[in-house]
Amino acid sequence: MAFYRQVGTIPAKRHTQFRDDAGSLYYEELMGEEGFSSDSSLLYHRGVPSAIVDSRTWDLPELTTTGNHPLRPRHLKLHGLFDAEEAVKLDPVQGRRLVLGNSDVRISYVVAAAASPYYRNAIGDECVYVEQGEGVVETVFGVLPYRAGDYVLIPRATTHRWVPTPEEGAASRLYVIEANSHISPPRRYLSRFGQFLEHAPYCERDLYGPDEPLLADGEDVEVLVKHRGSVPSGVVGTRMVYATHPFDVVGWDGCLYPYTFNIEDFEPITGRVHQPPPVHQVFEGHNFVVCNFVPRKVDYHPLSVPVPYYHSNVDSDEVMFYVAGDYEARKGSGIDIGSISLHPGGYAHGPQPSAIEASLGAERFEELAVMVDTFRPLDLGEGGEAAEDPGYAWTWAGRGPGA
Ligand SMILES: [Fe+2]
Repeated sequence: MAFYRQVGTIPAKRHTQFRDDAGSLYYEELMGEEGFSSDSSLLYHRGVPSAIVDSRTWDLPELTTTGNHPLRPRHLKLHGLFDAEEAVKLDPVQGRRLVLGNSDVRISYVVAAAASPYYRNAIGDECVYVEQGEGVVETVFGVLPYRAGDYVLIPRATTHRWVPTPEEGAASRLYVIEANSHISPPRRYLSRFGQFLEHAPYCERDLYGPDEPLLADGEDVEVLVKHRGSVPSGVVGTRMVYATHPFDVVGWDGCLYPYTFNIEDFEPITGRVHQPPPVHQVFEGHNFVVCNFVPRKVDYHPLSVPVPYYHSNVDSDEVMFYVAGDYEARKGSGIDIGSISLHPGGYAHGPQPSAIEASLGAERFEELAVMVDTFRPLDLGEGGEAAEDPGYAWTWAGRGPGA
């Protein structure tokens, strides 16, 4: 979902003749979801949007996964996956390393400073959290600037490319949530017509879409397409070559387009006693949710315990990505900025014991973390296995194999 937006030049009536100054017709494309029954946009192209001159296999990075078996909580240190020298050569699409995944969602991480190829994900929407860095995402709808703290929401099949603008030594650190479905604000925060309601922690004013068309010229432009296929991961790639540049849209309008939302604009919901994780929810996809824990006043009942209770969220695997600040409940666990914790279904989890007493009387938490809860179990990707801290599972008890 995103609310109605109009960019560039469009005809007064949809599906009518629309010509350039020389009298040539523009080519109208409807990009829509759920079989013409949900949000859509109409785009007006200078070239024929279906004119391809070649189609070849794109070999994707390693996407095989290993089950979380024997079952245990995991700590993955993502900052160890890339070094600075390597990042200069990598781009935000091809450099991704799969950390966790299941048949609903894949979570990857990349540190990259080079521009990506033209790319679209035909499997589902992407929600890319910018841990660090800035740049632009060029799309068929126009340009989206991005900065640290942004969620960049890119609808399924949107042709785009990432162009980081690295300052000296600072590549973009991107936490990539690829859905096999659409990703939208939580339904309960929207009116039946799609407007944000008063109890929502953010609203339309906090979403930023493209402002003007991005017109590029070119012939034989290659676009990497990620799409569904008959392989164990269900994900394959194709290199399509377009006769004319895909960024040739003079105008568009509708409710389907890429946008950004910055985590600083999330207004935390707080209470006298501990508020459950759904108050931190920011987006949802099929069989998963995205939440964020932002700096906030904490529970103000005189006897409140600010860190969470132990919880067995029996239907979910919980993935926390620690972005900034101090995450109070994980003190004493080895978890630091750039860490992921995976707390799987079938296992109760909660604070490291010393964190409970330490939190009493706290007025504020300065933590910043992005959480993905999935309703199907997550497997480890090659990046997840490479980043694992094997001692984490035993940090509550203080002893275990090899600890
Ligand atoms: Fe939890």
